[in-house]
Amino acid sequence: MADIETIIAQMTLQEKAALCTGATAWNTTPLERLGVPQLFVADGPHGVRRVPDATSMAIGALPATCFPTASATACAWDRALLHQMGQALAEEAIALGVDVLLGPGVNMKRTPVCGRNFEYLSEDPFLAGELAASLIDGIQSRGVGTSLKHFAANNQEYQRMTISAEVDERTLREIYLPAFETAVKKAQPWTVMCAYNRINGVYASEQRELLTEILKNEWGFEGFVVSDWTAVHDRVAALRAGLDLEMPGPRPRRVQAVVDAVQAGELDEAALDEAVRRILRIVFKAAEIPKGGAFDAAGHHALARRIAAESMVLLKNDGILPLRAVGRIAVIGRAAQEAHFQGGGSSHITPTQVDVPLEELRKLAGGAEITYCAGYPVDDSSQPDLIAEAVAAALASDVALLYVALPTFKESEGYDRADLDLTRHQVALIQAVTAVQPRSVVILNNGSAVAMNAWIDGAAAVLEAWMAGQAGGGAVADLLFGVANPSGKLAETFPLRLADTPATLNYPGEAGQVRYGEGIFIGYRYYDAKQQPVLFPFGHGLSYTTFAYSALRVSSATFRDVDGVAVSVDVTNTGPVAGQEIVQVYVHDRQASLLRPPKELKGFAKVRLQPGETKTVLVPLDFRAFAFYHPGYGRWITEDGQFDILVGASSVDICCSVTVAVQSTAALPSLLGRLSTLRQWLDDPAGRVVIEPLYTQIKQGIQAAFGGSADAEEDMEIMQFLLDVPLPDMLEFQGDALPAAPEQIVDGLLQQVHG
Ligand code: BGC
Repeated sequence: MADIETIIAQMTLQEKAALCTGATAWNTTPLERLGVPQLFVADGPHGVRRVPDATSMAIGALPATCFPTASATACAWDRALLHQMGQALAEEAIALGVDVLLGPGVNMKRTPVCGRNFEYLSEDPFLAGELAASLIDGIQSRGVGTSLKHFAANNQEYQRMTISAEVDERTLREIYLPAFETAVKKAQPWTVMCAYNRINGVYASEQRELLTEILKNEWGFEGFVVSDWTAVHDRVAALRAGLDLEMPGPRPRRVQAVVDAVQAGELDEAALDEAVRRILRIVFKAAEIPKGGAFDAAGHHALARRIAAESMVLLKNDGILPLRAVGRIAVIGRAAQEAHFQGGGSSHITPTQVDVPLEELRKLAGGAEITYCAGYPVDDSSQPDLIAEAVAAALASDVALLYVALPTFKESEGYDRADLDLTRHQVALIQAVTAVQPRSVVILNNGSAVAMNAWIDGAAAVLEAWMAGQAGGGAVADLLFGVANPSGKLAETFPLRLADTPATLNYPGEAGQVRYGEGIFIGYRYYDAKQQPVLFPFGHGLSYTTFAYSALRVSSATFRDVDGVAVSVDVTNTGPVAGQEIVQVYVHDRQASLLRPPKELKGFAKVRLQPGETKTVLVPLDFRAFAFYHPGYGRWITEDGQFDILVGASSVDICCSVTVAVQSTAALPSLLGRLSTLRQWLDDPAGRVVIEPLYTQIKQGIQAAFGGSADAEEDMEIMQFLLDVPLPDMLEFQGDALPAAPEQIVDGLLQQVHG
């Protein structure tokens, strides 16, 4: 490893500034004089988008394996699988000369209409953080870097480059930051990419609190922060905030601005040195791995197929699946012929090969007679003849398989969806086919939740096949014929209607701002709290076998928050075929001083079981499983009390639960102040001790002020009224009887509390 400090000492100001801005769209500035190589980055996250010409922003790229996109892979809930995918991605990156892969994306799915949800993992920060950490680990274990993105609160494409996400501190800490935090703490991504948007008015690229104080200082991030492409507006302000590398380049005016700012004493050269140091560390780390060679394209295609099969979610099945001994199959829908396997935008891969779903089906269909018709047009024009043809085919068959893909004009990076619906024509097609053929299976390709109210009752089965990557067609065939047993579970809720979703009233924002008014209640946290019915809940997914849960136990019924607890449960495969179950562990805080969601995912495990087999699943729960972020203290805390540990097959299918007692170890200072109310004094352990002796006196004073009553009910009423009155105002009721000014008395009490 080069001696970075020596290099920095030899660099001119101009060279330092130049290193902190890209040389081209995809590489950093090399410095031959001092032996500093360039760093080549390429988009991920589900494949390597290696552009042949680094100076170009063109979409075309060299062939690479297109794996399923993040919204799919998240549904596998499988850390080891993601790790393996990461290793394969790294192998391709090395072959294609790429040092850092720009992914994964861990932004929360605040609304299902976000056009880029297909690139994001989940609506749940725990799941997203765990899976991202595994993927990063997999990629980086082979010496290729990653870029965790888009930091932070980039939850919609609408006005993504300018909008200000107005989000409170607790919501940021509990919902929008933890996936980043987990990935950084567990896997140390080489780089973190800042988002385009503003957060509470300040561009993410200029957010010192996020980029430096939280990410680097608090979480211990060791790599460098890179801007999203063109997300920097004020280069000097961004550097001050902790934005190390601006991309893309070249941007000679930006480089000059940095030089000028240092010379004018407006930017501390030490801040520039720190950015240079962070970039150089990664540049030299990347250089340790020689690039070039070939990758195992066939092997990776097979891996992509397996990952796709594990990622797909069987949403509904009346027993029609898996298909057995079918004579005639009508395959309806353009997506059977032209696979819709990835999303539009910067993550668009040039695949090494693409499975044609129809062909893959034929390979597994035995002697079945298969007829195909397109079913719906490329656009959303009305073409009744396509529907008539499909209906005729369905009528002449034993089973209809409808392959329906949400077109890119409805869903892509760069814009949000206007609704949750398939195209009008696709809905009409499904309705018409299911009306004549009850044995109809709908296979969906889309990147985020779609509404199904208009047609789901007619479908015998629905398979959510997502944007399943280049081998998705084979995976669908594997699942339909039972070569593979579905095991995916939803990493996001499928709502009944768009109007039911948490961000409805606040999305997409107005006048340049989008208020995160639903706070910590996104996804299932919201639906649970509202008792709002959904189409398919978070964590839902069917299998061709069945599972039973038993013998839930905890390592300790009472424990200190810092010690955490181990939860174990026995899972038995009670059905006819081998299968995998995803065991989900949620935590419910029975009582807290701040509002908490009814339950939150805090652990999960996936277990493979032969028919009749039982395995014990162990899930550890740590401090954070019980903690919440308290903005008053500016930190994560727990409070003494009881928590329910809920173990189940989905967020609504809770199979067993156990109650534990958590002992908080936090020595929390009292938050009482001059304007605290009687209720707050009574709720505060130290305050209560101080206020109780005065309580009777105060009460009598008030009763006198209100005309004096011995009536118990009236007494209660008065006290209820008093609970939310600030203490000085309450003391004021005592008038002349008070020995000193109320504020003075309260200050004296506060001194007793705070010491
Ligand atoms: C996207 C990033 C991507 C970058 C480079 C941006 O528009 O938001 O996710 O990595 O372009 O293609």
